[in-house]
Amino acid sequence: MKRFESKIVLITGGNSGIGKATALAFAREGARVIIAARRENLGQEVTQAIERDGGEAVFIKTDVTNTQDIENLFQKIIDIYGKLDCAFNNAGVGGPMNRLAKQTMDNWDQVINTNLRGVWLCMQYEIRQMLKQGGGVIVNTASTAGFSGSPGMAIYSASKHGVMGLTKSAAADYATKNIRINAVCPGPILTPMLEEGLNTIPVMKELYLATVLMGRLGTPEEISGAVLWLCSDEASFMTGYHITIGGGQTVTP
Ligand SMILES: NC(=O)c1ccc[n+]([C@@H]2O[C@H](COP(=O)([O-])OP(=O)(O)OC[C@H]3O[C@@H](n4cnc5c(N)ncnc54)[C@H](OP(=O)(O)O)[C@@H]3O)[C@@H](O)[C@H]2O)c1
Repeated sequence: MKRFESKIVLITGGNSGIGKATALAFAREGARVIIAARRENLGQEVTQAIERDGGEAVFIKTDVTNTQDIENLFQKIIDIYGKLDCAFNNAGVGGPMNRLAKQTMDNWDQVINTNLRGVWLCMQYEIRQMLKQGGGVIVNTASTAGFSGSPGMAIYSASKHGVMGLTKSAAADYATKNIRINAVCPGPILTPMLEEGLNTIPVMKELYLATVLMGRLGTPEEISGAVLWLCSDEASFMTGYHITIGGGQTVTP
């Protein structure tokens, strides 16, 4: 019996980077995976890779900033599977880096509506369904930027601090309802999001590496293992917490 056999798992942002690695890992462990994101071609690539390996996955085109898309996503999940066991709220954007006073309202709206409002809205639908079915597990992607600040990152950092607050308070709301809610806090992980940032500001790589004790960037697979563990029964006494995975980033002043 595989660890997630017969489990229905939603992964927002499951067509790229950390979400993709997590989708592949869940499918290898027997889960039926729902991938929600905007780029359909990348979503289909992941579902096809899962199916080639004998797994089961479906892509549902979703923009997490769009309320109607989210309503449609959860309606489809229930129509197809009738339940939702685990949700990984991972879709996110970095947004342009700049000092706070130079940031625009458009940047604020894009980052906050994706990283914070999107997570909050998905959690509402997930929790309503989990209450109906008697339980479930949620993992949110925050960041080391969810408990520390860095230059040029005020909006992103505010969004991820917000995700930490949602995680802890929702865990308190539903701890006695058999719904566990935790977060993962990645340090710098080599994904398309980080690569885009490094391409725009190449010196960022050195700056990041200077903060990571292990002296390298992480891989998406180094995050997915923690997400699966948090969703598994092995983490049955974990709720309202976060796991930081950043090669030693943030442990020294
Ligand atoms: N890489 C890092 O160093 C790092 C560190 C800490 C935290 N994180 C967090 O990790 C998460 C995943 O990022 P990643 O590094 O794996 O980057 P990535 O490869 O760029 O993945 C971001 C994912 O989010 C999806 N997404 C973005 N906007 C969306 C929207 N409006 N609606 C639905 N999906 C949306 C993207 O798919 P579409 O564009 O197709 O919609 C993509 O699948 C993010 O929350 C990010 O903040 C990353």
